[in-house]
Amino acid sequence: MNDFTFASPTRFVFGRGVCDRAGAELAAAGHARALVVYGQGSVVRTGTLGRVLASLDAAGVAYDQFGGARPNPSVAHVREGVAAARACGADVILAVGGGSTIDTAKAISLGVPYEGDVWDLFSKKAAPVTEGKPAVASVLTIPAAGSEASDSCVISNDELCLKRGLSCEANRPELALMDPELTFTLPAYQTAAGVTDMCAHVMERYFSSVGPVSVTDNIACGLIRSLMEEAPRALADPEDYDARANIMWAGMLAHNGIAGVGRNVRPDARAGGWESHGLEHELSAHDARIAHGAGLAVIFPAWMRYVWREHPDRFLSFGRDVFGIEPVDAERDGVDVTAEEAVADAVAATIDELQAFFVSLGMPRTLGELGVTAEMIPALLETLEQNKGAEFGEFRRLTMDDARAIYESAL
Ligand code: NZQ
Ligand code: ZN
Repeated sequence: MNDFTFASPTRFVFGRGVCDRAGAELAAAGHARALVVYGQGSVVRTGTLGRVLASLDAAGVAYDQFGGARPNPSVAHVREGVAAARACGADVILAVGGGSTIDTAKAISLGVPYEGDVWDLFSKKAAPVTEGKPAVASVLTIPAAGSEASDSCVISNDELCLKRGLSCEANRPELALMDPELTFTLPAYQTAAGVTDMCAHVMERYFSSVGPVSVTDNIACGLIRSLMEEAPRALADPEDYDARANIMWAGMLAHNGIAGVGRNVRPDARAGGWESHGLEHELSAHDARIAHGAGLAVIFPAWMRYVWREHPDRFLSFGRDVFGIEPVDAERDGVDVTAEEAVADAVAATIDELQAFFVSLGMPRTLGELGVTAEMIPALLETLEQNKGAEFGEFRRLTMDDARAIYESAL
């Protein structure tokens, strides 16, 4: 187990009806004025926004509203939010929504104390300023991105066709209100994309170059097994509270860092090389209609098939712990295969099972199903290189030729 630093400072308030406590929780934390950020209207239609605003009124927390965060949120919208937060003097940015809304809130919070253009922070031209930075809190309505406790914030710049993440401890929200009942209204596709994203957050950390870390690996595989049990239940009955609750908590555990401790190569680094996220972010940067989780459902298995030979043991332990897959033994099982063939078969079966799970949830198998064609690949590679450099990744270093091969294999 490698040395690590881990902090998860967010206060979690979990259960039925907790969104009605938003005002009391913020007031108790000393906040007097909130900018309430939301998305494209689901929280208006479901009544969640009204409940949150009523709780702010009841607790004497003043607020302004700032709606319109789109899935794969844009920096242009964030810039407007920064102006709105400054104008109302918000001491907390309260997101009511999912990853896109929470990331918009995080970026607004980062932008408030920074004098230049907020995109500078995402292009690493400047470091985040914490003095004068409003706190971030959320009422989570879709479990998926894990932004309610994560250290990252992902924003798109449409003019530059770039989607960039900024990870820093200052991004960790102060408060997350997690009411599984709010997720009953989620469309099946969003439920499935969310579960896929959670699996990806666990797997990006599991498939690092570091050898076994028993306690962390068991947390990781346990999370995937729970998601495989609970996701079909939530899809079969969208109002299955326990299924929704388990998925919601799993989404947080998948991305607050606990599923990767000790698997990091440097004490201050996150575990894993996040190769599939890097490859996927280009898809949703070029077409914001592509849900992040749906892109991952295609990219992750394609990446796995390309790189598994680098550390086959990671795949064998994942296959054993998640799917009960063991390589055949020529002598024991009386079959005519070499040890190498047995490993390759077990790994292929593991990746097939994982992909079959994503597809069973309604996720795509190919890039074609997402509208991505071979002609688009050069443009994806161009922005990938701008974001990641000529080589990236940790499980195995990937060049742009490797990235091209992975995209092509997924068409
Ligand atoms: O915009 P509204 O109208 O609210 O509708 C949303 C949106 O269309 C809808 N929705 C949310 N809650 C609902 C609901 N519909 C019905 N009932 C509800 N209760 O669901 C759609 C998707 O919402 P979005 O916030 O985009 O989903 P998600 O949470 O998957 O967030 C995706 C974004 O997070 C980024 C992704 O790249 C993407 O931009 N990520 C952020 C991370 C982080 N900050 O740590 C890590 C992730 O790896 C990821 O990259
Ligand atoms: Zn993700």
